[in-house]
Amino acid sequence: QERTFIALKPDAVQRNLVGEVIRRFEAKGFKLVGLKLVKPSVETAEEHYAEHKGKGFYKGLVDFITSGPVVAMVWQGKGVVASARKLIGATNPLTSEPGTIRGDLAVDVGRNVIHGSDSTDSAQREISLWFKEGEIADWTPVSNAWVYEN
Ligand code: GTP
Ligand code: MG
Repeated sequence: QERTFIALKPDAVQRNLVGEVIRRFEAKGFKLVGLKLVKPSVETAEEHYAEHKGKGFYKGLVDFITSGPVVAMVWQGKGVVASARKLIGATNPLTSEPGTIRGDLAVDVGRNVIHGSDSTDSAQREISLWFKEGEIADWTPVSNAWVYEN
């Protein structure tokens, strides 16, 4: 089954939104297989956001993501990469739909609460950047038969 990398940014931790966001992913039916609170190194942050290197907001983005603890997570489930992006909403919270995490919980693009991998390739790259193999724990939810038809 598919996996995605989700990070709750320092604003989410400071604003006590960790539980609220995890609740939404659990309620959807996805399975949590990795979770840790970490203060990312500049190296990790730069590698994570390598695609944005050279853009005007890059330094601010790296400074922000390394400014405090981040909740790094791996979620698993059918279509979880694209579905997580839908739960998260558009990058700029002023245009994210109500009902999405950013649409409901954020205002500014530089304080948009959460990161989610944008493709299965990015997900694999980001999971191996943030997690060691032994830090991911697969398990079988008893609710599986009530979330999945087969
Ligand atoms: P992530 O899940 O965090 O990767 O967001 P995204 O995929 O919706 O957006 P993208 O990868 O394009 O940008 C990464 C992050 O950079 C965003 O989440 C924003 O926090 C920040 N960002 C993107 N565009 C801008 C911008 O125009 N200005 C500022 N200040 N920040 C931006
Ligand atoms: Mg992105």
